[in-house]
Amino acid sequence: MMARRRNFLRSVAATGVAAFAGVRPLQAADSEIEINPSTPGPPINPHIYGHFIEHLGGVIYDGIWVGRNSKVPNVDGIRKRFVDDMKRIGAPNLRWPGGCFADGYHWRDGIGAAGKRPRTYNYWEHRMPAGRRATESNAFGIHEFMRLCRLVGAEPYVAANVGSGSPQEFHDWVSYCNAPAGTLSLADERTANGDREPFNVKYWGVGNESWGCGGNMTGGEYATQYRQYISQVPVYVRPYFVATGPRGHSADGDVGWTEGFFAGLQNVRGLGVRVDGFALHYYTDFRQTAEDGARFDAKGWYAVLHKGVHIEKIINDHWAIMAKYDPQHRTKFVLDEWGNWYRGGTELGPDYILSQTITLRDALHTAMTFDIFNRHADKIEMANVAQTINCLHSLFAAVGDKYTRTPAYYAFEMYRPHLGGRYVPARIDFPEMTVPLLEGSARLAGLSGSASVRDTILTVTLTNPSLQESVVTRIRLTGGARLREGRATVLTHEDTHATNTFERPDEVGLAPLAVQVSGDTATMTISKQAVVAVSLQLG
Ligand code: AHR
Repeated sequence: MMARRRNFLRSVAATGVAAFAGVRPLQAADSEIEINPSTPGPPINPHIYGHFIEHLGGVIYDGIWVGRNSKVPNVDGIRKRFVDDMKRIGAPNLRWPGGCFADGYHWRDGIGAAGKRPRTYNYWEHRMPAGRRATESNAFGIHEFMRLCRLVGAEPYVAANVGSGSPQEFHDWVSYCNAPAGTLSLADERTANGDREPFNVKYWGVGNESWGCGGNMTGGEYATQYRQYISQVPVYVRPYFVATGPRGHSADGDVGWTEGFFAGLQNVRGLGVRVDGFALHYYTDFRQTAEDGARFDAKGWYAVLHKGVHIEKIINDHWAIMAKYDPQHRTKFVLDEWGNWYRGGTELGPDYILSQTITLRDALHTAMTFDIFNRHADKIEMANVAQTINCLHSLFAAVGDKYTRTPAYYAFEMYRPHLGGRYVPARIDFPEMTVPLLEGSARLAGLSGSASVRDTILTVTLTNPSLQESVVTRIRLTGGARLREGRATVLTHEDTHATNTFERPDEVGLAPLAVQVSGDTATMTISKQAVVAVSLQLG
């Protein structure tokens, strides 16, 4: 009986575009979720919930760096509200300085007395609107970046310059960051510039997008560069090297890059060439469509969510290729750029290139992406949203003294309990939907999610992408586990286009959701177009 009602309701959701305008659910559908918390899987690396900030548009300058003399509340020149919010979500890492900017960046330009630092060319200059400049002031360099990391409590992840730098320049940067005080001249220089204690940077990106702005190489050519960059690197902290991975959002998933790179390392692997992380990039890329961040219909809603979850296939496809060369999977993914990328038109202002309106749609996309990352916790060392502030898939928007959290921010806040938990498989019994896309239609999970356990708390996150119907959800524990109590929060809005603006910063936010707990079962109703995070105390 229940299944029949479910199927009826799902077919309402599948009747096409006309059905989306104004059709209200007659009743909620039912879903069953089975979880056995006593058989947890791999740990979820907290770094999966990581960040990326680049010298691009308004990301660093204004977004993060307001300067020490700014009227905007700051800590040593760094926007205070940004620091506070990043602490609130437990931001585990920050990738910097790019992006495409990284392969044109020379780290020495960003050290020493602020007034004496050179003004240099910024890669993004060519994307600035007519009459606007992107000249790099170098006011924000490695010391300022490390100050930010320490304020937030985040691990630094530094992308080195392979595209226009040299192995020597990279090695000097590593020594400057990590050599103990008093040992090398470079360590003395760091001390003289204000930081006696080494930065102990562990995560090093060996270039960025070396198939494009990072050097236009083939996978094989890059393998040669990679070997040269890492072979003589000074070791003070055991480095974690991240090699450039594929452009996962290419039409063919860019599997040729992964083949070419790993094949290029084959005959030298015995000499100790290590690839700790492999940087897969996946943008939910709508740049070539009419879709922008703010204006969309039901087709646009589902198209973005559907293309977003395609990342799971890309992860599996590249993992399978890597298995051929590395059957034990010593190399993990570092998904160091992911997020939605719309065509322009909703920027915060002319200097804030690549910024875009973030709506409820992006928040659901964030949640569905995180659930995929959790489910592949065995494969992923780190992931970094592109980019944290004033950019594509941002958590924050800031212009001068104006600041707001975007709807995507709240997905990070909701998913925080997963950080450092152990993934627990969840069997979700709920039918797929047929949804309209920009062209044609496709199948999309009617309810998706993931679960993790930490101590005696089971966290379950769930997304209902339907624009029509709510879902009565029963989470049932198996394996003899019992529940003591349950709490939940929900992220939703009546209007799919809802966003937070400087004038209305709290339009989209979290609200409590009622959960009934009885024995081994927790029951709640997940409204349409909603993300829910459930926290269950095991008895
Ligand atoms: O995030 C914006 C840009 O996208 C990055 O600089 C680059 O790595 C990617 O193509």
